[in-house]
Amino acid sequence: MHRRHFLKTLPVIASGAAMSGALDPFTAQAATPHGIAATVHPLATKVALDTLKKGGNAIDATIAAGLMLGVVDGFNSGIGGGCFMVIRRANGEVMVIDGREMAPAAATRDMYLKDGKAMPEWSQTGALAAGVPGEVAAFDLAQKNYGKLKLADVLLPAAEIAEKGFRLPIEYADRLGRVQKELALFPASKEIFLKANGSALRLGELLKQEDLAKTYRAIAKEGSDWFYRGEFAQRTGDWMKANGGLMTKEDFANYKAVLREPLRTKYRDHEIIGMPPPSSGGVHVAQILNILEHFDLAQFGSESVETYHLIIEAMKLAFADRAWWLGDPDFVSVPRGLVSKAYAQELAVRINRKQAGKVEKHGTPPNATTDIFRKHTTHYTVADAEGNWVACTATINTTFGSKVVVPGTGVVLNNEMDDFSIQPGVPNSFGLLGNEANAVAAGKRPLSSMSPTIVLKDGKPVFSAGAAGGPTIISQVLLAVIRHVDFGMPPLRLLQQANVHHQWSPDEVKIEAKAGEHILGPLKQRGHNLKQMSSFGACQAIAQTPAGEFHGAGDPRVNGKADTF
Ligand code: GLY
Repeated sequence: MHRRHFLKTLPVIASGAAMSGALDPFTAQAATPHGIAATVHPLATKVALDTLKKGGNAIDATIAAGLMLGVVDGFNSGIGGGCFMVIRRANGEVMVIDGREMAPAAATRDMYLKDGKAMPEWSQTGALAAGVPGEVAAFDLAQKNYGKLKLADVLLPAAEIAEKGFRLPIEYADRLGRVQKELALFPASKEIFLKANGSALRLGELLKQEDLAKTYRAIAKEGSDWFYRGEFAQRTGDWMKANGGLMTKEDFANYKAVLREPLRTKYRDHEIIGMPPPSSGGVHVAQILNILEHFDLAQFGSESVETYHLIIEAMKLAFADRAWWLGDPDFVSVPRGLVSKAYAQELAVRINRKQAGKVEKHGTPPNATTDIFRKHTTHYTVADAEGNWVACTATINTTFGSKVVVPGTGVVLNNEMDDFSIQPGVPNSFGLLGNEANAVAAGKRPLSSMSPTIVLKDGKPVFSAGAAGGPTIISQVLLAVIRHVDFGMPPLRLLQQANVHHQWSPDEVKIEAKAGEHILGPLKQRGHNLKQMSSFGACQAIAQTPAGEFHGAGDPRVNGKADTF
C-alpha cells in the first residue's frame, strides 16, 4: 500500500524593490516595497520577514525560515536532512547549491537485500535509512558566499522557539499520530514526541525541543564544524555503531555541499532555472515543458480536457526516462539530451492528441553517452543583495524521516536512502521505480524529485515555485509554471486549480476531484486510468509584476502562508 508522504518545503523568498501598494484581485496579497516570503508555516514566514527587516537579504531569510521549519515543521524537514537551493542574485548571477544527503562510505549496492529479497523497511526506518545530512552545509555555503548575516543570527530565533515550545497545529498532530508506533522504537524520539504513556502529543499541546535548541546554539557558537567534525558527528557515529548503522564520524567530515551548474532552459518567452541532477526535478520539469511547447495550450484553455490530456501524456514520457536515466551525475552519466528541444520534438510526435498512449519504456535522447551532466564547481564574489530571489526545497523524506533522533541532539535523521533504487523493479515509498543509474553506492547521492524553480522573463525574475510531495513535486511545479506562463494566473489562483500527476509506473493518473466531472469524464473516455484524490501536494509560489509588485501564496491545501512587509 502506498502511504501518504510529504516533503517539507520550501521557503521561496524574494527581496527587492517594488513600486506601489495595490492589492491583487485574485491573491489579496499586498504588494510590497521590501520583500516576500512563502512557506508552509506562519512562524517560518515571519522569521524570514524579520530577517529581511533586520538587514539580511533573501539568502539569510531563506535560511532563517528553513531553520525555523526544522523546529515547527520538523516532521518534514530539518538539519537531519538535505536541501536544494536555486539562487538568482540581484546582479543577475544564478547558482544552485546541492545539499542532498550522501550515502555512507560503507554503503553497498545490495545493502537492502536479504537472501536476494528487497527489505524496504531497512531503507525507510532506523539506522540504515539515513544518509549523511546536507542542510547545514548547504546553508553555511549559501550564507558565507551570498548572505549578509551570520549563521548565528538566523539560528537563534529558531532555537528560542525550540526551547520555549509551540502548540501543535492540526497537521503536525495528525502526522505525529500516524507514526507514533515507529517513533516509539527509538528512545530519544519517544522522549521528545510521545507522552509517558506512549501516546503522541495532540492538537494544541506544547512541544518543547530543548535538545534541538542546544544543538542550534552549539552550531551558532562553533559553526558548522560542530555538526560535521565535532560533537554531532561523534554522537551520531557512536549511535550508529551501537545500533547497526553504517554512518561514521568520518562520513560527516567528508560531506560537502556542492555548487552545481544551474539547469537553464527556455519555455515560450520565459527562461526556466532549475536544479540539475541529483535532482530529477529540473530535468523533467524542463523536458515536459519542452514537449508541451509543441502544443498551443493557451488556445485550449487552462481547464480543458485537451490541456490535461497533453500534460498527462508528456508526464508519462518524462517519468519513463526518469526511471532509466537519472542518478547522481558524479557516479553515472545522465544525458543532457533529455532537455534538448530536438528530443522533445521526437517525444511530442508520439503523443496521440485524442487517446491515452502506452509508454512501454524509456526513450533515448541524442548523444546519450557523450553529452552528460557533470559536476561544476564555481566561485562567485559576494555583492549587495537587493533583488535576490531564492527557491529552496528541503526534506528529511517521509514523515519524521528514519524516526531516529540522535540521543542528546534533538535532531531527527532523514530516511533519504529510500530514494535510491534498492533493487531494480522494486518501487520506493513513493511507488517510483529506478534502475542501475540510481543504485546505492558509497558516497553517492540518492535521486530526488525536489524542483525549486525560478522563472525569468527578459532576464528578470518574474515567478518562482517549489513543492512538497515526492514525485508529485515535479508535476506541481510544472503545473504552476504552465498556469503562470500560459494562462497568466497569479500565485494563489494557480494553486487553487486541480493537481494532476502521472509517474509512468504505476499507469494511473492521480487527479484532484475538484478538476470536475467535465474534465474527469472525458479523460476516462480517452483511456486514462484515473485515481481521484481529494487533495495532494503542497506548493508555494511567488510572482513579481512588471511594476515590481510581489504576490505570493502558500498552498491552501496545507494552510501555507505567504506574507510581505
Ligand atoms: N525525498 C524525496 C525527494 O527528494 O524526491
